[in-house]
Amino acid sequence: MSKNPSQDLETMPLSSDFFKKFQRLRFFEPSLGILGFFLVTVCVICCFFYLDYREVAKNLKISTQSERFMLLKFDGYGEDRRRRVEFLGEKGSECDVFEGDWVWDETYPLYQSRDCGFLDEGFRCSENGRPDLFYTKWKWQPKDCNLPRFDAKMMLEKLRNKRLAFVGDSIGRNQWESLLCMLSSAVTNKDSIYEVNGSPITKHKGFLVFKFKDYNCTVEYYRAPLLVLQSRSPTGSPPKIKTTLKLDQMDWSSLKWRDADVLVFNTGHWWNYEKTIRAGCYFQEGEEVKMEMKVDIAYRKSLDTVLDWVHREVNTSKTQVFFRTYAPVHFRGGDWRTGGSCHMETLPDLGSSLVPPQTWDRYNIFVDALSAHSNKSVLGTLDILNITIMTSRRKDGHSSLYYLGPEVGPAPPHRQDCSHWCLPGVPDVWNELLYALFLKREISRNRYSNSITFQAPL
Ligand SMILES: *[C@@H]1O[C@H](CO)[C@@H](O)[C@H](O)[C@H]1NC(C)=O
Ligand SMILES: *[C@@H]1O[C@H](CO)[C@@H](O)[C@H](O)[C@H]1NC(C)=O
Ligand SMILES: *[C@@H]1O[C@H](CO)[C@@H](O)[C@H](O)[C@H]1NC(C)=O
Ligand SMILES: *[C@@H]1O[C@H](CO)[C@@H](O)[C@H](O)[C@H]1NC(C)=O
Repeated sequence: MSKNPSQDLETMPLSSDFFKKFQRLRFFEPSLGILGFFLVTVCVICCFFYLDYREVAKNLKISTQSERFMLLKFDGYGEDRRRRVEFLGEKGSECDVFEGDWVWDETYPLYQSRDCGFLDEGFRCSENGRPDLFYTKWKWQPKDCNLPRFDAKMMLEKLRNKRLAFVGDSIGRNQWESLLCMLSSAVTNKDSIYEVNGSPITKHKGFLVFKFKDYNCTVEYYRAPLLVLQSRSPTGSPPKIKTTLKLDQMDWSSLKWRDADVLVFNTGHWWNYEKTIRAGCYFQEGEEVKMEMKVDIAYRKSLDTVLDWVHREVNTSKTQVFFRTYAPVHFRGGDWRTGGSCHMETLPDLGSSLVPPQTWDRYNIFVDALSAHSNKSVLGTLDILNITIMTSRRKDGHSSLYYLGPEVGPAPPHRQDCSHWCLPGVPDVWNELLYALFLKREISRNRYSNSITFQAPL
């Protein structure tokens, strides 16, 4: 992982040569001499940082005990990178982009929150007082291939005259706002990006549609945390039933987004006892309210409904459908009500990650649903943004205390947010993966149509 220290020392003779030259120069060219001295000083300072940084890396390595679990890499651009194939190249097709490492990269983040008008206050952690910025500096490096560098202009060009819609809960919204910031970084005239109904970005809108005027494309968000239809309780139900979730019907808004060109689903965070049965929301199939049905069973049934619906209703030669897997939460020592904590986490997890079991429960139910549908053609056309495992190592990326706005300041420690993510931050990386898969499908589509048109040899 870290370079041989002797390599660092090899640079020393070079700098002392430089020093000698500088001494000679000083007699002739005082101003050049000062410049030289300045350069040498900068060099020396840089060397100190560099050596110190290696030291940090070495300590981290010791603390993990075993090299096998060395999951953080400081050297993303070393030999390995050159050996890897490009994901978008022909040889990249076999690569699982979700298997890899978090790699420190000084060129990140891709934007600054203060330059992006499309962010909820709750995601602007550093503006809300979060002191560290490490969490903005990690990029995702797949094990066997390289991802394309995110190019906002390219993505906007590919989205020209198209609609991209996120459908899901507030973590989906988190990711949607991240994409708005990433895309708008390539647009100089920010006034050319606007909500088509003039609605402001506020938390509780049913849906928001942002148009990029120069590209005639829209990037939309539909709030549908459970994806299936929530409605009033049937007449004559006992009073404890306030609403029902119709597990066999899609959310009312589905007609609005069915024909989008790109759909990005997510769900999971509302599929728990508190947000359903505890709140008087029971599960319904057909006409029947299932008073005894457990949340996990209902969640699984709703996923079946979504997958069947995509299979039945979506024209997958037009619409590219993504499903993002559950985004891990990182409450430790409790949950959001009972003092669970992720505050002061400034580095990703080394080795195996400790996330509450609910994360794996939600993830596994989704994986089961997927495999049960694996004999249907829909799976060939559905892209899974399989981010749960990779993201489980990012305990450092959450809003924690810094979601209340710059005036209010940090929240009290017993009210931490370890579900949502700071922006810029982790959801940017999900969007880079979305970008890569989006381009990949485009390329294979073109390749396929070229091979038909020109009957190119395989
Ligand atoms: C998700 O990614 C992990 C890690 O690469 C892999 O083990 C798992 O099989 C993947 N799951 C799905 C549903 O693609
Ligand atoms: C703009 O995009 C929409 C689809 O979102 C399309 O129906 C419409 O024809 C496009 N307008 C122009 C002028 O291309
Ligand atoms: C599906 O979309 C393709 C590409 O836009 C279009 O040519 C085709 O007619 C559509 N099929 C249906 C059944 O609407
Ligand atoms: C998929 O398999 C299930 C049983 O495992 C079967 O009931 C269903 O009809 C199959 N669907 C297709 C499209 O083959």
